[in-house]
Amino acid sequence: MARAKISIIGAGNVGATAAHWAAAAELGDVVLVDIVEGLAVGKALDLRQAGPIERFDAKITGSSEYADTAESDIVIITAGLPRKPGMSRDDLLAKNVAIVGEVTKQVAKYSPQAILIVVANPLDAMVYASYKICGFQTNRVMGMAGILDISRFRAGIATELDVSVEDINALLLGGHGDDMVPLVRYTSVAGIPLSELLSAERIEALVDRTRKGGAEIVSLLKTGSAYYAPSAAVIQMAEAILKDKKRILPCAAYCDKEYGIGGYFVGVPAVLGTNGVEKIIELKLTENEQKLFQVSVQHVKQLVAQVDKLL
Ligand code: LAC
Repeated sequence: MARAKISIIGAGNVGATAAHWAAAAELGDVVLVDIVEGLAVGKALDLRQAGPIERFDAKITGSSEYADTAESDIVIITAGLPRKPGMSRDDLLAKNVAIVGEVTKQVAKYSPQAILIVVANPLDAMVYASYKICGFQTNRVMGMAGILDISRFRAGIATELDVSVEDINALLLGGHGDDMVPLVRYTSVAGIPLSELLSAERIEALVDRTRKGGAEIVSLLKTGSAYYAPSAAVIQMAEAILKDKKRILPCAAYCDKEYGIGGYFVGVPAVLGTNGVEKIIELKLTENEQKLFQVSVQHVKQLVAQVDKLL
């Protein structure tokens, strides 16, 4: 069987680290693309030279030409500006819509059968922009955010309880913004509901830190945003798709009738397999969860209205 082809657009921190995780997991051959001459080529060569040490067999190519991405199985779009301290994800909208739009045009031209995973911010609106431009079926366009947000929540819980990160299960709904909705009711530690292990105050503090998790890292790094966890999250999505694992992972997926959303990409639990988003899991929400989810969805809709004006 031929190896899968994974193209990663943008050889910045998120893109290059995603290439690293993908190669280390031997998910397939990786093409790293960046418009900055030499950047993707240099990083790809360096990563390839780590192969003999880390024992991964993957062809890793760097390029500044989209033609090299032709016939990819998956294209991960990381191109776009990151936040600087004090900025919200929404402040990036106008600049990133132009970048994501141009990138999408190119990748759709060379890989009309690919599955697209968008990582630029403001995430949910950028997935929408990419979808509008490529015209792919909705199951083949999605965004990475939920896994990252949930992983921040899981890491926080593991640290607080001093238990393995592996035993923590959690879910999340809504857009990738400060109004995301981590679902405490569906969060458990080795099957034990979180509420039996931590006080309501401690849980609220962990939820709050999760919501602001991206900004916390931006304020520490000062020159960019998080990349280890975001890139690991996007590669977990790619793995679920390439191996047809049918994992249930929270990601920005197209919801029409689902949750009564009416045709927007928002964070929901989705089954990821060969066909991309194969199913969206609809949870019965409490009144309060429903209220919080609606606030987040409204926020996404406002951002999409801005995107529509720019496209
Ligand atoms: C974050 C950015 C990448 O949450 O959105 O870290």
